[in-house]
Amino acid sequence: MAQPAVDLKNVQGDSIIGFPKKAEAFYFFQINSARVNDFRKQLGRLVPQITNAAQVRNDKRAIDDSKSAGKKGLLKISGLNIAFSKHGLRILGINDNTGDTAFENGMLADARDLGDKGKSAPGDKFDPAWDPAFKQSIHALILAAGDSAGTVNEVISKVENNFHVGKPDATIRLIKRIDGKVRPGREEGHEHFGFLDGISEPRIVGIPSKPHPDGEKPARQGIFLVGRDGDQASNRPAWTLDGSFLAFRFLPQLVPEFNKFLKDNPIPGVLPPSKGSELLGARLVGRWKSGAPIDITPLADDKALAADDKRNNNFRFNFNGDQTVQDRCPFAAHIRKTNPRADLDQFGGTERRRILRRGIQFGEELTKEEIDSSHTKLQRGLLFLCYQSDISDGFRFIQTSWANAVGFPPGKPIAAPGFDPIIGQAGGGSRSIVGTNPKAQAQPLKLPTEWVVSRGGEYFFSPSIPALKNKFAL
Ligand code: HEM
Repeated sequence: MAQPAVDLKNVQGDSIIGFPKKAEAFYFFQINSARVNDFRKQLGRLVPQITNAAQVRNDKRAIDDSKSAGKKGLLKISGLNIAFSKHGLRILGINDNTGDTAFENGMLADARDLGDKGKSAPGDKFDPAWDPAFKQSIHALILAAGDSAGTVNEVISKVENNFHVGKPDATIRLIKRIDGKVRPGREEGHEHFGFLDGISEPRIVGIPSKPHPDGEKPARQGIFLVGRDGDQASNRPAWTLDGSFLAFRFLPQLVPEFNKFLKDNPIPGVLPPSKGSELLGARLVGRWKSGAPIDITPLADDKALAADDKRNNNFRFNFNGDQTVQDRCPFAAHIRKTNPRADLDQFGGTERRRILRRGIQFGEELTKEEIDSSHTKLQRGLLFLCYQSDISDGFRFIQTSWANAVGFPPGKPIAAPGFDPIIGQAGGGSRSIVGTNPKAQAQPLKLPTEWVVSRGGEYFFSPSIPALKNKFAL
């Protein structure tokens, strides 16, 4: 029987559309096992307040209209979504196998394979160097996003009142709350190393988006939404339709240390050396800090290109049909490792590996002391979050089989292009990358141990609105 087309009102808003936001709270909690039925009734009352994808699309249009009308100041906008871990499903009595192995096992069991630092524990176990909160069994995650921290706090208060938090009959217990915020002033939209983020995003068949050519075919809906065309599994439980799996990673970044490495290792022959350092940074990421892609502008930043949505994502790492040289972009640059575009044309393409990234920065700007000493004192970084119809195919595959895999991408004259210098992990072991110097493309560059330090995370499932109503709530 043909499936009816997806109705955006049925899908939680952060997945296929993505909350517009200046601030966001990540509220990780446990459900009180003695009050599960009360929790489910209260969840039923919360469901009408969950922001669906149609609402988020309208909010985004309203923001665009207000910007084009030249209005200053932000519209007051908020978003609320909820997702459950496999522990959460079990507490609610949902024992079906979702068909996503990574989700079913949980992230803690995956830490060693992801390359996180840690130590061996008895019984061939692994104890990752994570924030202790993520070693507990987290049942669910509330995402509250908005135009300001004040709006986000209002949303969280509503949620806490709904579940009687702070009262003797509370049905949930907070494990950890982390607040993210967009960086200030000219750094808005840039991650903490200074590079503009959130530029490249897969286009999705049947979901209208702004023209933003990327040389790739739109991905099928089932790459992100369970049960839709393109979902690799065929036997998912019926209630998973139009849900999406969410991978969360708590990723502090060592910014002064990263900056020092660039300063100490300028690309030789580029004068002044500060320009050589800037070029090295661009070659590690695959874009200049402005967001301009080095595959289009390899030697100098181009701010006009960066700002032009028609051009800033329109490249495939096959300039003049040549995919064997690193003149423009190193094979192992972050954006090439995580979305290799034409590099995989002869190996089945990239569609199955596409993810919807929805992270936000956390922490404060660098202090003078940190800049002067080149040492991180305050925690800052990325609250990484992405959606896909299968974590084993999406986030997990990108991290383990691409970013951490020194032989990837394949089919190059260099057998081992090296680690993704931004997120590639060796469990604390040594890392290097080959080809950062365009004039010596076979030369390795030793990288320090990770600048992006995994401190934990979890895998969740973000159910559709009908599933929340009919399966999760009472
Ligand atoms: C793109 C930084 C973690 C996957 C980017 C871009 C930057 C960036 C600056 C370019 C902007 C854009 O194209 O939107 C970072 C930093 C990270 C981080 C600083 C950690 C603190 C991750 C992780 C993954 C990932 C954990 C997945 C395992 C991607 C993907 C793209 C991307 C898929 C888009 C590539 C493309 O389509 O061209 N990242 N990232 N990133 N990143 Fe990351």
